[in-house]
Order: sequence, then C-alpha cells, then structure tokens
Amino acid sequence: MVNKYITTKMQKSDIIQAVEIWTEQYKLYCSNSKSFPSKWINNTKEIEGFLSKKIEDRAAIVVKSDNRLLGYLAYDEFPFNGEKSVFCPLIAHAVIDEYKEEAYAFLYKSISRDWIDKNIFNHMWTINYNDNRLRGVLFDLGFGSYLIDAFACANYGIVSNSVYKIRKAQFQDAEILYDLVEESREYYSSAPLFLKREQYSRNDIIEIIQKSNVFLAYEANSAIGFINVSVSQGDNIIDLFVNNCGLIDEIGAYIKPEYRGKGLGKELLKYVFDYCNNNGIEGIHVDFETANLFANKFWRKFFNPMLLSLRRTINKNIND
Ligand SMILES: CC(C)(COP(=O)(O)OP(=O)(O)OC[C@H]1O[C@@H](n2cnc3c(N)ncnc32)[C@H](O)[C@@H]1OP(=O)(O)O)[C@@H](O)C(=O)NCCC(=O)NCCS
Repeated sequence: MVNKYITTKMQKSDIIQAVEIWTEQYKLYCSNSKSFPSKWINNTKEIEGFLSKKIEDRAAIVVKSDNRLLGYLAYDEFPFNGEKSVFCPLIAHAVIDEYKEEAYAFLYKSISRDWIDKNIFNHMWTINYNDNRLRGVLFDLGFGSYLIDAFACANYGIVSNSVYKIRKAQFQDAEILYDLVEESREYYSSAPLFLKREQYSRNDIIEIIQKSNVFLAYEANSAIGFINVSVSQGDNIIDLFVNNCGLIDEIGAYIKPEYRGKGLGKELLKYVFDYCNNNGIEGIHVDFETANLFANKFWRKFFNPMLLSLRRTINKNIND
C-alpha cells in the first residue's frame, strides 16, 4: 500500500464534502431499481445529523491525500448477542470511487486498531449490495456475508394459485400463532443458521396481531404458516426504508417444514403485497440472514437486495 494517505478524526467542516461523496456512492449503486428509496439522495439532513453526532463521540475518521478528503468511516458501538461490537451502517462510510480499494483498506487499518485496543473483536459493516469492489476489499480483510436488506415495489404483481385457506389473524388466533412462533425459534437456532431469537410472550403475540397484520394459512383446522407485515412510522437511516413502507419484520414468515416449497410462501406474500397496494403503501422491505438457506432463495425471487451486511470476528486472544 502506498503511504500517500493520512487519516485524522473527522471535523464538522468535513461533513458537507463527506455527504457529497456518500450521495455519489448511493447514486452509483442504488439507482438500478425503482424499489430502492430515492429520498436519501434528495434529503441528507439525517445523514448530516448522524455524522455530527459521531464527530462529537469521536467515532468518525476521514482519509485525505494532499489535503483532499477522499472518504470517511464512522461507527456505532453496541452489544451484539452479548458481545462488544462495532457497526458501520451504510450512512457511516463512503469513499470517492476511483480511490475505493486503497482508501477503504486505509480507513479500516486505522480504525480497527482503536477497536481492538478497546477489546472489540466483532466488526460489522453494511455496504451497497452491488458494490463488488468494496465487497472484495472486505472479503480479503476477513469479512463474510451476514444479512441482506431487500426492497420490492408493492405493485410487483405476484401471481399465485389459491390452494390454501389464508386469513388475517384475530385475537382468538393468539394461542396457535404463539405455538408457530415458538416452533420458528427452533428453526432459527438450527444449522446452519444458528440464530438465537428473543422469545415472544403470549401478550407480545396479541399485540402483534392487533397492531400489525399477520396472515395465517390453514389446512383443515391446523395452522401451517404465517407472514407478518407492519407499516413504518418514520424514516430509518440504518436500514434506509422510509415512512409508510411495508415491513416484513417482527415474527417475519414461517411455514411448517412439510408445507415448504409448495407455493404457500408465495401465496402468503401475495396477501402482503395486496394489503400494501390497497393501503397506499408503495415499497416493502425485508431483511434476512444469508445463512438462512430457505430465506436466501425465497426473498430474492420477489425482492431486490440493496444492502449487504458483513461481519468479521477477530481472534479473541490478540490482546492476551
Ligand atoms: C421461506 C419460506 C417462507 C418460503 O416459503 P415456501 O412455501 O417454502 O416458498 P414457495 O414454495 O412459495 O416458493 C416461492 C418461490 O421461491 C422459490 N424457493 C423457495 N424456497 C426455495 C429454496 N429453498 N430453493 C430454491 N428456490 C426456492 C421457489 O422455487 C418459488 O419460485 P417460483 O415462484 O418461481 O416457483 C419457507 O420456506 C419457510 O418458512 N422457511 C423457514 C423459515 C424462514 O426461513 N422464514 C423466513 C425468515 S427471514
């Protein structure tokens, strides 16, 4: 690596230029689908606010060459599954495209020293899904794929045959939904996903039924699967969905093993798309772990991946 770059703490005077670089990056990698929110290019106030806060927290650096700002990197510190971790969301970094490989490697080299000094061994980073060059840089640094955030236009037009009985869950469905959600936790914790999900109480399930939309599929009198969609109440600068967006989150979607791969997921998803279409909701967001072998195939059929989150775990004995 050529030592022509320097990194320094980010200053408030760097913000305007940093946001310009970020906007260029967003245009370059997020203009290829109508389903990706364009709001973030036209309204950068929230990104400026985020960077301003990071500068105050001394959690943002810039890379410069001959006094020219080439890029920046900021981070949040948080406990991820109980482990001290850092997370760089998409708004927390950008580099002028022609300097990408060297400038990103330089930023990470500089900032990762601080993280390790603080015993933070879990490093998470969200990038544009289509940014194959940055993906390559991070792969060589030891990062691997973790999560995808994907978007769809609600008017996509899913065609599916109505084979199963599907209806919106009501208060009296709480107990069967609770059982299915418990079953889904077992699925998430199984190989090769190994995801520990929080347990929902019966009251949580009642609240989800009442506050959002859960569509339940039945065969005879047995519930065999569900999908859950809520509606965003504001913009989200981390996942980059905007206000009034359909969110397949909370309890997500789950189908009993023996009913998978037979078109039921698509049928349930049609209910979500129809609900959004009929209620003036234009976009729908979902996120899923790439190690979820079912989800990683299923959602990609109907949603366009926009963000890829990667993760690197450092050897825990480095500071011994
Ligand atoms: C993910 C899930 C809801 C999908 O439902 P499903 O009923 O299995 O999916 P469908 O049969 O409706 O498949 C719809 C489309 O996705 C494709 N697909 C689904 N699973 C697939 C797989 N494992 N491999 C390849 N393609 C797959 C199908 O080929 C189908 O494509 P088509 O419309 O061109 O025929 C279901 O498999 C499930 O509950 N899995 C376990 C829990 C889970 O992962 N939930 C999602 C959490 S993010």
